[in-house]
Amino acid sequence: MSKEEKKKIFNAQLLKRVFVFAKPYAGKFYLSVVLALFLAVFSPLRPLLINFTLKKVNTQSEEVASVMQFLLYITIIQIIFLFIETATKFLFTYITSWLGHKVVKDIRVEVFQKILHLNLRQFDKTPIGTLTTRTINDIEAINDIFAEGFIPIIADLLSVIAILAAMFYTDWRLTLICLIPFPFLIVATYLFKESVNKSFVAVRNAIASLNAFVQEHISGMQIIQAFTAERREMNKFNAINQRHRNANIDAIFAYSVFFPVVEIILAVSMGLLVWFAAKDALHLDATQATAISGNIVAFALLLNMLFRPLRVIADKFNVLQMGMVAAERVMVVLDNQDALADTPGAVNQQIKGEIEFKHVGFSYLQGTPVLKDLNFLVKAGETLAIVGHTGSGKSTIIQLISRLYQHQEGEIKIDGHAIEKFTLQSLRSQIAVVLQDVFLFSGSILDNLTLRDPSIPQSRVEEAAMMIGIHDFIESLPGGYDYNVQERGATLSTGQRQLLSFLRALLFNPAILILDEATSSVDSNTEVLIQKAIDLLTKGRTSIVIAHRLSTIRKAHKIIVLEGGNLIEEGTHETLLAKQGSYAGMIEAQMKKDGD
Ligand SMILES: Nc1ncnc2c1ncn2[C@@H]1O[C@H](COP(=O)(O)OP(=O)(O)OP(=O)(O)O)[C@@H](O)[C@H]1O
Ligand SMILES: [Mg+2]
Repeated sequence: MSKEEKKKIFNAQLLKRVFVFAKPYAGKFYLSVVLALFLAVFSPLRPLLINFTLKKVNTQSEEVASVMQFLLYITIIQIIFLFIETATKFLFTYITSWLGHKVVKDIRVEVFQKILHLNLRQFDKTPIGTLTTRTINDIEAINDIFAEGFIPIIADLLSVIAILAAMFYTDWRLTLICLIPFPFLIVATYLFKESVNKSFVAVRNAIASLNAFVQEHISGMQIIQAFTAERREMNKFNAINQRHRNANIDAIFAYSVFFPVVEIILAVSMGLLVWFAAKDALHLDATQATAISGNIVAFALLLNMLFRPLRVIADKFNVLQMGMVAAERVMVVLDNQDALADTPGAVNQQIKGEIEFKHVGFSYLQGTPVLKDLNFLVKAGETLAIVGHTGSGKSTIIQLISRLYQHQEGEIKIDGHAIEKFTLQSLRSQIAVVLQDVFLFSGSILDNLTLRDPSIPQSRVEEAAMMIGIHDFIESLPGGYDYNVQERGATLSTGQRQLLSFLRALLFNPAILILDEATSSVDSNTEVLIQKAIDLLTKGRTSIVIAHRLSTIRKAHKIIVLEGGNLIEEGTHETLLAKQGSYAGMIEAQMKKDGD
């Protein structure tokens, strides 16, 4: 752990931010602090009571019966004390954990809410695994700040102070003698804390790597098996696992050394106590000597109590520190301002469908422009086809129209208004996008089609499916519309997934349709269905189609040809062919390929 991360434990500002999340549960929070205080003061009472009892019994010269009665009372009081202490401890543990979990849930919801609204470019630079770790593991560690870290540490410190006070009150000289081995305990605790901390960090890093590795390799299993890379990947996995194991063993080593050392120090303290007390007793007369026995018993009990929190305090500091590091990381996500918000004055407005690009320039990464001075116009209800080589910026154009990315230069207008004038909700709800690679969520087909929009009844879904011609296919799946799509739709073919995404677009009946046609070839039966679906979808609707199929391109009202982010040709199929330029060349190549 770096120096900087070490300081986090004392980072009051960060702690304050975490505690802001506990505000709704302020009552419980204060209750836990009060309970901690109560426990600290209450626990040393029992040993003191024993001391009192022993003294009383040893010095009393009354008859046996009254002594027995006294002992009975004391025993009852002890039992009541014990009961109160146990009940308070239970309440304290329960409340701090309860608090931690409430806070964790609230933070997690807020973080996911944040992630849902982040600009897409944030996901280009943040690995998915990292965001998963933030929302799951890191937030879990924040729980520990409450359940095992901050409040319990305060409770422990309070009880150490109270016990020491009780010891000094009983016999300050004996207390000092018992404390002689304490410097060793402090050194041992410090060394232990440092060592365990290092291993903790290593364990966590190893777990993060393990997570990322397994996640990625299961996603890419097809490639691994197809290229028989199993052994190489296994070796890599072994190496990461070894790191994980070594880090854990280091931590276990520190624990196994520390706890016996603490026991030895406690034993030395006890030894000193008995030695000095006994030595003193030698010089006293019988009654005084017996009176001292009460002190010794009380001290033995108090010493045990004193060591209990000291044994675990190093551990708790580590937990607190880890929690703080995690909290800091989570706050970075919460502080991310890169979420697209509506521009002030944006309105919900019905879209007719005219789209115009005026001198639009855009780059994903500063300094590498992807679109340059782009100009074109699509009239409402017409279809624009975009053609161009791979990487020419076709998909980028459609990302800009739904404002998934924000263009930097020029203006994009819909119905004559800059797209920023529309609220994101109204803009995106009126544009349906069929992407190049279709993403399906695990869940039923129906949920995937409606995206859980309750305003779309199943009857309408079935009607639309019949129009597209995949109703029979969906019905043929086990469970029909309730067929459980496995992760990313792995059990469906590319063509089937494509058709499902067409159906999804049709259901939302958008003013504008954006279609990023997949290049993959499908069987001729599916091909016919896709053709039909595209015709159906684009008919009378403003459509921007990134087209690879000649038939789709040919039907477009207008075609633009992109090359390296520049518009190099524009026209209809006929005019562009007549021009004998880039487009004509591409078509010729395509026809040759199709002819084969
Ligand atoms: N998220 C991103 N971050 C950075 N660069 C990107 C990103 N997405 C695309 N690019 C780059 O922008 C350029 C245009 O990409 P785009 O996806 O628009 O191409 P395309 O014309 O759709 O290609 P294809 O026909 O292969 O789908 C490419 O050079 C690509 O590397
Ligand atoms: Mg593309």
